[in-house]
Amino acid sequence: MTIRRFPSRRHFVAGAAQAAAALALSGSALAAGSLPKMTVTRDPNCGCCGNWVTHVRAAGFTVEVVEVPDVAPLKTRLGVPDPLVSCHTAEIGGYVVEGHVPAEAIKRLLAERPGATGLAVAGMPIGSPGMEVAGQPLDTYEVMIFSAGRRNVFARYRGLRQV
Ligand code: CU
Ligand code: CU
Repeated sequence: MTIRRFPSRRHFVAGAAQAAAALALSGSALAAGSLPKMTVTRDPNCGCCGNWVTHVRAAGFTVEVVEVPDVAPLKTRLGVPDPLVSCHTAEIGGYVVEGHVPAEAIKRLLAERPGATGLAVAGMPIGSPGMEVAGQPLDTYEVMIFSAGRRNVFARYRGLRQV
């Protein structure tokens, strides 16, 4: 588990320091070398998935892309709830990342290591990474954190900006 390589893991105990440290780590402090490898499973005929892979690679993630004609069985196996389903499904550091989740939110997940199955952005919000449409107003969308039987808002974004 690559968590051992995070330098300030022992600071993640409890209280206010935890949030502050997690915030600090969520940005550039998580350099490419400290990020676990990501595997993205996608339908090769869906363009937005490729755009999202470009987004996470630009943010420093090392990505292996697996192309399959039907991603649905993997989503079921990994426990992605039906209402949170999007197009591509990523696996990283023991978590599932479903759909157009901003790289910044994934870095925060990996820094905080909450007990959860993963993160998801349901559907295809306009302006989420990989879903930029020129001339279209940006949607406000939620990054959900989920586990079996549990769903909560992890962050809210408009475009690449947290709101
Ligand atoms: Cu998509
Ligand atoms: Cu897609």
